[in-house]
Amino acid sequence: MPASKYIMMDGELVPSAEAKIHVYTPAVRFGAHVFEGIRAYWNDEHEELYVFRLREHLERLRQGMKIMRYDTVATVEDMTDQVLETIRANEYRGDVGIRLSAYVAGEGFIDATGPVSLMVGVEPGAAKSLADKASRGSVSSWRRIDDNAMPPRLKCAANYQNSRLGLLDVRNDGHDEPIFLTQEGKVAEGAGACLMMVRDSQPITSPITAGILESVTRDTMFWMFEEHFGKPVEERAVDRTELYVADELFLCGSAYEVMPLTTVDGLPVGDGEVGEITTKVWQTYDGVVRGTLPDHPAWRTPVYGGQPEVRAAE
Ligand SMILES: Cc1ncc(COP(=O)(O)O)c(C=O)c1O
Repeated sequence: MPASKYIMMDGELVPSAEAKIHVYTPAVRFGAHVFEGIRAYWNDEHEELYVFRLREHLERLRQGMKIMRYDTVATVEDMTDQVLETIRANEYRGDVGIRLSAYVAGEGFIDATGPVSLMVGVEPGAAKSLADKASRGSVSSWRRIDDNAMPPRLKCAANYQNSRLGLLDVRNDGHDEPIFLTQEGKVAEGAGACLMMVRDSQPITSPITAGILESVTRDTMFWMFEEHFGKPVEERAVDRTELYVADELFLCGSAYEVMPLTTVDGLPVGDGEVGEITTKVWQTYDGVVRGTLPDHPAWRTPVYGGQPEVRAAE
């Protein structure tokens, strides 16, 4: 991805090439670093860029900073201003990915809880078509990290070594995306996304106690299935072999958006094509995040503020 012009570090915009930290920071040495990946979507008609569910992401980041026992925890308001200012400074008028990192700076040791620095970066990130996203899933031989050791609820950079091992493992075997099982052997989630399964038209997903990140997109799916499709999601433990008999499977997350899995462990999911429900979910999701559908205007934070947020249905 092309680098942006500016990155915000501790509230100051700096040219991207100068956004550096010391190799001795606890962030680098021990992974003392929590982050968020967020997207903003361009709406042609409104000539506006909308950040999707910014508040929810920032609240989760604050929860992460609390679990990390950081000395200081930035407010949602302050971080919102920093995100909007960074996008505006880079003058993006198209879909973008936003990254916030709250890390332990300075030269402390493993137990350092400050000084805490905040970084905000933005990169162009146009959404791919559903067909281009279709991927081959496989259950990873690496189990998901556990709440009593490396809590998956905490979006901490160090946790992603688990995702990385799983990704490299399944890619080495010719698949694209890992599906992790919990230590107890139930389905958890993907490397950077939650897993949704459809069986006999019923959407099903693992509970938040099954080694998953409490995903904003998963929550959006709960709302969408209930309000748009009249089928509330069933939240329950999922067995590995259920994946083999599912009609549709897809990964969902801010970065992945909606990613259909057309095979799992080499077996076709349903008929091996992108499913009808997955397709509808993607279309609705794209409408909601972009504001071409009027639902939940408060989920879309306008960056430039020049146009009405969403027109009411007439
Ligand atoms: C491990 C993991 N699970 C799920 C998700 C999806 O979370 P969200 O929908 O909040 O982006 C992510 C994304 O960051 C993730 O890294």
